[in-house]
Parts: sequence; C-alpha cells; structure tokens
Amino acid sequence: MKITIINGQNHKGSTYHIGRILADKLALEKDITEYFLPKDMPAFCLGCNQCFLVNESKCPHYQYTQPIIESIDNADVLIFTTPVYVYHCTGSMKVLLDHLAFRWMVHRPNGSMFKKQAICISSAAGSGMTSACKDMKHSMFAWGVGKIYTYGVRVSANSWNEVSPKVRGDINLKTDGLAKNIKKNNNKVRPPLKTKGFFLVARMLNKKSGWNEVDVTHWKTRGWDNTTRPWHHK
Ligand SMILES: Cc1cc2nc3c(=O)[nH]c(=O)nc-3n(C[C@H](O)[C@H](O)[C@H](O)COP(=O)(O)O)c2cc1C
Repeated sequence: MKITIINGQNHKGSTYHIGRILADKLALEKDITEYFLPKDMPAFCLGCNQCFLVNESKCPHYQYTQPIIESIDNADVLIFTTPVYVYHCTGSMKVLLDHLAFRWMVHRPNGSMFKKQAICISSAAGSGMTSACKDMKHSMFAWGVGKIYTYGVRVSANSWNEVSPKVRGDINLKTDGLAKNIKKNNNKVRPPLKTKGFFLVARMLNKKSGWNEVDVTHWKTRGWDNTTRPWHHK
C-alpha cells in the first residue's frame, strides 16, 4: 500500500507523530512519502486562474505542485495532518489546498481519487479538532476521494514530549482501529451516495459547452459525460 503524507507543518511535533504512527501501521518505509508545508509549497495562490482556464502546468508554482500532485495520484492512501491553529488547519495547509482547486469535482477531478482513502488528522492542545479536520475533509470530498476518515486528538500539550502516556495509549489504540479498516477497504473503495450525487451534478454542468471548455474536454475524454464512471472497478 502506497501512502502520501501531507503535513500542514514543517516540524515533527504531536501532529506529525500521530500521522506517522498510522502510516507505519499501514506500509513499509519505502512506500511512505512525506511532504512538509510550507517547505514543499512555499508560495500563496496568486489567483491567476491559469489552472482553471488553461492547465495546471501553467500555475506559476507548478514546480512545487507537480511532485505533490504526482505523489497524491500514485498513492492508495492519503494522510493529511495539521495542528489546530485558531480553530482551523494551518495557513500552510490551506495554501496547498488552494493550489489544488482545479481538482474539485466541478472542474477536473482525477479519476483515481474515487478509489482512494484519505485520513484527515488534527491535534490541538484543547479544542478545534473538528473544524480543522473539516477544512481538509472539504477538499478531499470535492476531489472525489472515495472514503474519508477524520481523527482529531486533544493532546493537552504544546509539544510531543509533553504528551502523556495515557494520550499516547489512546492514539495507539485508535490508529490500530483505523489501520485495520483502511487495510480492509484497500482496493475495494466505493464512494458514498453523496459523492456520486455531487459527481452527477458536476457532470450535468460539464455536459454544457460554454461552461469551461477545458473542464468540458476533461469530462468528455474520460467518457464521464457518457456512461463511464471513475469509481467502477474492473
Ligand atoms: C498559532 C497557534 C494557534 C493555536 N490554536 C489553537 C486552538 O485554536 N485550539 C487549541 O486547542 N490549540 C491551539 N494551539 C495549540 C496546538 O494546536 C497544539 O499544541 C497542537 O497539538 C500542536 O501540534 P504540533 O506539536 O504538531 O505542533 C495553537 C498553537 C499555535 C502555535
């Protein structure tokens, strides 16, 4: 199983360790690729719209987005991690998600997403884990990811060293359960009705020429305007 971890922070604190503990229960080191933000995506989206209107390769920050996009596409499982910053994901995580807006279902989703699993992980000293996980889950859903899990942890600490043995024990148990489910569902993912419904709405829009020709062509060449569906297993 191939794993891509996108860390919404550069440092290896509580959030990183929780994501890594889960990844290590799923795959061998050689199958785990990690990114750290903002190191691996250090530029804000400029709003030039080139990704929407022409192609993602026209993004002025394509040198940063390209390897991350490739890694996401090649992975079976995506792990997104963020510490809670003022009740939300980090600004760095949001910056990456902004750069991948063209991947939203209404534009040019990648067909492989519908068979993937993603886990959104957040850690907080006190609270805000739910809204921080939602920040990431929103994009996962809109990319068409077939199965999405969220895991928010109240670590009651400012650093990994301060995290108590009780909380570490809970993390161990919870990641055991998550790993079991993820392994069980690997290669068998079927997106929920809500995702399929959203896909059909996007399909309707993309059947109209004049909507956004680049998107319309993307849908047509994959046969999604016809009867082909990206979640069908061969
Ligand atoms: C800028 C900033 C904002 C934070 N905002 C919150 C918050 O809204 N709620 C909370 O419970 N903890 C908040 N914290 C604490 C961290 O979320 C918490 O310590 C987290 O576990 C740190 O993870 P890390 O070790 O991976 O950096 C904040 C920390 C920082 C640096």
